[in-house]
Amino acid sequence: MATTASQGILSEDAREDREQIVEMLKKAYWMELETVMSYIANSVNPDGLLAREIAESLDQDIQEELGHAQQFAARIKELYGVVPGSKEFAAEQDFLQPPGEQTDLDHVVDGVIAAETGAIEHYNALIEFCADRDPVTEDMVIAILRDEEGHRRLFEGFKRGLEASRA
Ligand SMILES: [Fe+2]
Ligand SMILES: [Fe+2]
Repeated sequence: MATTASQGILSEDAREDREQIVEMLKKAYWMELETVMSYIANSVNPDGLLAREIAESLDQDIQEELGHAQQFAARIKELYGVVPGSKEFAAEQDFLQPPGEQTDLDHVVDGVIAAETGAIEHYNALIEFCADRDPVTEDMVIAILRDEEGHRRLFEGFKRGLEASRA
């Protein structure tokens, strides 16, 4: 009986592809965890009338993004990778740092849209790479991509609301 898979992404023949996918999953894992940090801060900091709604929405997203991070971690392990330790983390979300004024909701909404757009771009690349290589990862990332598209759409709506409130 073979001790390694003879077909699919777990096979020896697919080692290089598998390692590439693991690297892309690690990037996704970090993106999700940084998003959790940024969304916690931006769900608490804002002041003002519209701030409550945005904060409540971010509050819900935090749990979803955390769930995404856990799914990416589980898949890294399934592909024989190792989930990295926190010392490998490098922050990238300049656009989601707290604004100078906590009433500056445009900054928060634009930052969330930028974070979701970054995730959407990376997950589309992952899906494309996994096509014909790893349908299980592809399937998982498609479901996550749908969540991110929903998040971005919601915040595009908030942006329109902010613009309309000034018109
Ligand atoms: Fe996410
Ligand atoms: Fe998201």
